[in-house]
Amino acid sequence: VGRWARVWAAGYDAVSVRFERVQGPHRRRLVGEAAGEVLEVGAGTGLNFPRYERARRVVACEPDEAMRARARRRARRARVPVALVAGDAGRLPFADASFDTVVFSLVLCSVPRPEEALAEARRVLRPGGEARFYEHVRSERPGLARWQDLLARPWRTVNRGCTPNRETVGAVERAGFRVVELERFELPGVPPIVRPHVLGVGRRA
Ligand SMILES: C[S@@+](CC[C@H](N)C(=O)[O-])C[C@H]1O[C@@H](n2cnc3c(N)ncnc32)[C@H](O)[C@@H]1O
Repeated sequence: VGRWARVWAAGYDAVSVRFERVQGPHRRRLVGEAAGEVLEVGAGTGLNFPRYERARRVVACEPDEAMRARARRRARRARVPVALVAGDAGRLPFADASFDTVVFSLVLCSVPRPEEALAEARRVLRPGGEARFYEHVRSERPGLARWQDLLARPWRTVNRGCTPNRETVGAVERAGFRVVELERFELPGVPPIVRPHVLGVGRRA
């Protein structure tokens, strides 16, 4: 693992632990109810792992080795079995219809092509399965959305691909999911361009 990747993973962890108080409850709502065979895409350092309650098993795919190394430690503290694998959201190394639930947690902002990641999620889900997502998104307020558009490129450059102006809910619907639960809210304490968040569930149509 490169030194820069290790530094990034450590930094991501440190910042996330600082935001635990505001993010923790959303993470719990995201995965606490995730049931059956669960795939978490781009699991990062595994911050969601200790909050799974109903999953029979979680398979967590994460392409970055330094992130995976940290996630491995958290996997041991989970209440449900967690298996870590390397893997790209755009080409999931799993058979069709092999999961009951797919979880995206602050990851559809970072993958190069969210529509591809969502198509893959749909493919690996059983009919009637759920995509659960917790993401920061493009604002519904035109003023802020304009700032998100203007700053998207520099923000992405310094934040490893994180794109602040994606219309993720629309992308979920276009990928063949019926959105059955959706909440929009602002996350306090973060820069305004990444404040608008969504927490939702899409059912595989
Ligand atoms: C902002 S972090 C979120 C990590 C974690 N899901 C969380 O909730 O803290 C974005 C994650 O997406 C991962 N990622 C980036 N591109 C990816 C891809 N093509 N496929 C899967 N994961 C990817 C990154 O390695 C990183 O771990």
